[in-house]
Amino acid sequence: MSSAVAEPQLEAEFEAIVGHKDRIEPRDWMPEAYRKTLIRQVAQHAHSEIIGMQPEGNWIGRAPSLRRKAILLAKVQDEAGHGLYLYSAAETLGTSRNELTELLIAGKQKYSSIFNYPTLSYTDVGTIGWLVDGAAICNQVPLCRTSFGPYGRAMIRICKEESFHQRQGFELLMTMMRGTQEQRDMVQESVNRFWWPALMMFGPPDDASPNTEQSMAWGIKTHTNDELRQKFVDMSVPQAEALGVTFPDPELKWNAERGHYDFGTPDWDEFWDVVKGNGPCNAQRLAHRKRAWDEGAWVREAALAFAAKESKENHA
Ligand SMILES: [Fe+2]
Ligand SMILES: [Fe+2]
Repeated sequence: MSSAVAEPQLEAEFEAIVGHKDRIEPRDWMPEAYRKTLIRQVAQHAHSEIIGMQPEGNWIGRAPSLRRKAILLAKVQDEAGHGLYLYSAAETLGTSRNELTELLIAGKQKYSSIFNYPTLSYTDVGTIGWLVDGAAICNQVPLCRTSFGPYGRAMIRICKEESFHQRQGFELLMTMMRGTQEQRDMVQESVNRFWWPALMMFGPPDDASPNTEQSMAWGIKTHTNDELRQKFVDMSVPQAEALGVTFPDPELKWNAERGHYDFGTPDWDEFWDVVKGNGPCNAQRLAHRKRAWDEGAWVREAALAFAAKESKENHA
């Protein structure tokens, strides 16, 4: 882009906008590193929404009632919508959904590691809604005020839908807790499997998160990983008590001095191992995504051919 305005002045204007907690919009000048960080983060977020459809989509055909099936279908469709808003936000930064999907399939971009764990029973639909969507809300509510306009605006709608997801999960688990002992055991077993991976959703501890400082200076992030993790623990413990389940952490206890719950350390070796591709479902999730992408190629080609034909006819 040719511009008569010198880069230091543009940078000063950018810093002023970020400093005032105003929005950076797609046509504003932005440092290349800011653009790159945002593309990486928004793409990772979009991929998580799309890959996140798989563990629950796995249970649509085996829902225990028509009501549960309708709820789950609506929830999984919402996640597809979230993915699309986010790919659109990423496109305003000068990339494309095709490009990002190809990077994902090639293993060059990540998605949230939580989706590399299997869903072993319908109970997991409830636990994912309660804990995974719950953790997503903790992460995403502050993102409504992130410095990049299209990302922040997409998050406002997404957060409203995520809170419906969380409540449907909690309601499913509550229904099971009012059922038989076997159902209560299923809920506890499922919560035991998802608790630690849910805590890992906030990312590595602050002292092992090299990008956090810069992202906070740019107003992309407004809270650190550890702050958000603490918030999630504090929020979840009373909910677990209301449900009548426990979390598999002997160190979890109220600390009156801090005004927060103390809790144990997630297994960060497991976290990094899953990030590197060695989780129980990494290969399956990516293979499934690749198959869907390949099998959908003719639809994308047909849509483009149709659009080209329409525009030719309109201009004839
Ligand atoms: Fe979502
Ligand atoms: Fe969700």
